[in-house]
Order: sequence, then C-alpha cells, then structure tokens
Amino acid sequence: MSTFEVRTLGCQMNKHDSERIAGVLLARGMTAAPDGEIADVVVFNTCCVRENADERLYGQVSSLAAVRRERGTIIAVGGCIGQRDGETLLRTLPQVDVVFGTHNLARLPALLDAASESRRPVIEVEDPSDGDFTSELPSRREHAWHAWVPIAVGCNNFCTYCIVPSVRGRERSRGFEDVVGEVRRLVADGVVEVTLLGQNVNSYGRDLYGDPRFAELLRAVAATGVERVRFTTSHPKDLSDETIRAMAETPQVSRHLHLPVQSGSDRILKAMNRRYTQESYLALVERLYRAMPDLALTTDVIVGFPGETEADFEETMRTVEAARFDAAFTFIYSPRAGTPAAQMADQVPREETQPRFDRLVAAVQSSALAKNLPLVGTVQRVLLEGPSKRDERVLMGRTGGNKVVHVPLTEGASARDLAGTLVDVRIDDAQTWFCMGTLIG
Ligand code: SAH
Ligand code: SF4
Ligand code: F3S
Repeated sequence: MSTFEVRTLGCQMNKHDSERIAGVLLARGMTAAPDGEIADVVVFNTCCVRENADERLYGQVSSLAAVRRERGTIIAVGGCIGQRDGETLLRTLPQVDVVFGTHNLARLPALLDAASESRRPVIEVEDPSDGDFTSELPSRREHAWHAWVPIAVGCNNFCTYCIVPSVRGRERSRGFEDVVGEVRRLVADGVVEVTLLGQNVNSYGRDLYGDPRFAELLRAVAATGVERVRFTTSHPKDLSDETIRAMAETPQVSRHLHLPVQSGSDRILKAMNRRYTQESYLALVERLYRAMPDLALTTDVIVGFPGETEADFEETMRTVEAARFDAAFTFIYSPRAGTPAAQMADQVPREETQPRFDRLVAAVQSSALAKNLPLVGTVQRVLLEGPSKRDERVLMGRTGGNKVVHVPLTEGASARDLAGTLVDVRIDDAQTWFCMGTLIG
C-alpha cells in the first residue's frame, strides 16, 4: 500500500480537503501514483449537491472493480457522499473498502491500514457538527503559489434545496489569529494568492469570542504580505457595507465577488429561505458597483425550483440582466433527499426547465461578453498559472476579476519560470470566457 490517487468531485472546500487528504497520506510515507498508473489506494472525495454526482461515483468505482479484485487496490470514499451515506453506501457499492466522513480526514491512514489488514469494509463517519477544525493537517498544495484557506466550516442557513448543512454540520469559524498565522506561514513558503473559504464567509466570527468580523479578517489577511486575496462564498443577506469598504480600500483583495442570487422571484426566494428580495439584491449590487466600478460579479442560479412559473423565471432573467454578471454557475433544480424542497408539491417537469435553462445560459453569455469588451486596451495585473492547455508557447493567467487571459510567451521566456508571478498585461482582445493580451515590460 504505497501509492495513492485522490479524485475530487466537489466544490472548492472539497478540493482543499483533497489537498489535505494528500498531505496526510504523504506524511504517512505514501507517494502519489504517477499519471496513468493505477494507485494502490484510490480515494474519492465526493459531492452530493448535484444529481449526477452519485452516478459519477458509481461509474468510476465500478470501473475499478476488476483491478481491485486482481491487485488488491483499496477504494476509499470520503467527502459529502461518505458523510451522507455512511455504511449504507456499501449496499450500492460493495467494492468500497473504506467510507469516511468530512471530519475524519486525519484518521484516513489508520482506516486504510485497518481495511487492508482485515479485508473488510471500515466505516468512520462523525457527526459533522462535532470536533475541531482539522485545518492544521498537512496539505499538499496543487500549486506552490496558491493556497485555499478555510475560515469557517458548515452552514446555518438551511436554504430549502440544499444538502450542505446536513453533510457539513453547523457553522464553526476558525480563530482569527489561527487564520492570519496560517497565511503568514504560507507567504513565507512562497504563496502569492490565497482564497478564503466558507459556505458563507460573511457570517464569519459570529460564533467566536470578541465577535471578529469578516471585514477585519480581510484587512488582516491582506496585511500579511500576500499579494492577492480571494474569498468565496458570500451570502447576499450577510454582506455588510463594512466588507464592501474593506474590499474597495484594500488593493490586495481582488475585485471579484461571487454572490449567488439563486432566483429573481421574491416568491421563490422566500420558498428557498434565502432571506432577501430581488430589490434588496439589486440594491446591494448597485452599492457594490458604486464602491468598485471595475468589480467582476459572478453568481449561482437555480432554474425550476418547485412551483417556479414562467413569470417567476422572467424575474430571474430580469435580475440577471440588471446585475451585469461576469459569469454564473447555472443549475437545473434537482431534489436532494432529506431537504424540505424535495417534499414540495409542484416539482417542475424537465420540458419546462430545459428551455428556461437555455435562455438563462444565453443571457449569461451575453452579459459576460459585455463585461469583457471594455477591458480591451486596459492594463490588467495578471497572475500567471502556466502554459495554456492548447499551446505551450501561450501562458494562461487570471486577472483580479478572475478572468482567464492568454498571453503569448516572449522570445527566451519560459512558461514554467513565469508560473506563479504577477505581471502587467495589456488586453488586446476579449471573448465571452477569455481575453488575449500582451506582456508589458
Ligand atoms: N454555500 C455556497 C455553495 C452551496 S452549493 C452558497 O451558498 O452559495 C453551490 C450551488 O449549488 C448553490 O449556490 C446552488 O446554486 C446549487 N445547488 C445547491 N443545491 C441544489 C439543488 N438541490 N439543485 C440545484 N442546484 C443546487
Ligand atoms: Fe447551502 Fe444555502 Fe448554506 Fe449555501 S448558504 S451552503 S446554499 S444552505
Ligand atoms: Fe461542497 Fe458538494 Fe459537499 S458543494 S460541501 S462537496 S456537497
């Protein structure tokens, strides 16, 4: 049992958990399996927000069944499906050797040992609201220059469609000094960009002694010497003017906000338990643009929540147009067992949701292009990530607004050397999902 592979199927929090899973296994003396080789241990870090998440997991685990039989490969399933299903996962997936929860990452090496010795399934799923923050576990970062930094876990919002509160537990904030101290160590280790993570970063600190606020944390993190600070996710009901000010006044904080709107209809927002209205959301958006005219704004939208009519959907379209989004994750509502919305009458049939979804996607595309076109001719600070997928001689990077920029390499420059550096780029051309630019200086 010496090599491992971690397959990540979920959100940013889940991606960061994968880095910690890898960190814990490396600390135990295991090594990452080379690309294209089947590892001795395959760990699935799963998500259960989307309908096809289960199918993806079943498909991938089943396709490993033969190697498991022949070579004794150990299959471990963690993350949100592990947390949700526990032992019952073995009924649908008898090939699984270890099931572990979202709060049991540190125990994974011991669970793998137990499974390989006994050749019997081993299950460990803790109540997600118990126990401490596990963020001090070793972590193997995907990029040397970027780090995910969790500032809170869990969620207290109970949006009626959402499974996250039941798999991640109640919200717990991480200590202020604990977060800032970690960012300082990361900076000393060469990190130039951090992304602060929480299901609702704007409610950070409410459960802590002294009531530290997210705005203060943002300023303190920016003062560590880190060059760029990102954060996600913001709940519109909790985004304060203080946080808007902190964003606007702190040059290290990138001018990008992910502000999920979910729907534009007040009736649907109420049924979702979002606790804001179309009017208050759009007023917040206007305050944001007034404070930061160059802000990139992204969102999540759900189409076809139970009871959604054509008129409700028109309100969503109206909101999307008025908010001038730079990008959006768009979802067709899918009932998640155990959530209140799954029990609601009036589930909307696919024949109605699909055309709405297609219209929404088209609206988001034109809004994205409209936001990108004015960038042509401007100079943007771009964090270079490495060679682009299609062409080794073209670098890919991101602006503060999180826009992908392609920059042709100049003569003699090396893509590997430039990865992880911040450079000035003149934007020459803008498309819907990326820009082209030229390196300056
Ligand atoms: N805490 C974050 C992320 C939640 S999950 C937030 O509040 O934004 C990410 C997105 O998945 C949600 O914003 C929502 O748009 C989508 N989503 C969650 N549950 C869903 C469901 N049952 N059906 C369709 N989309 C869903
Ligand atoms: Fe889910 Fe709502 Fe919490 Fe986001 S805020 S994780 S959508 S319950
Ligand atoms: Fe994230 Fe999916 Fe879990 S969105 S918190 S991995 S259910």
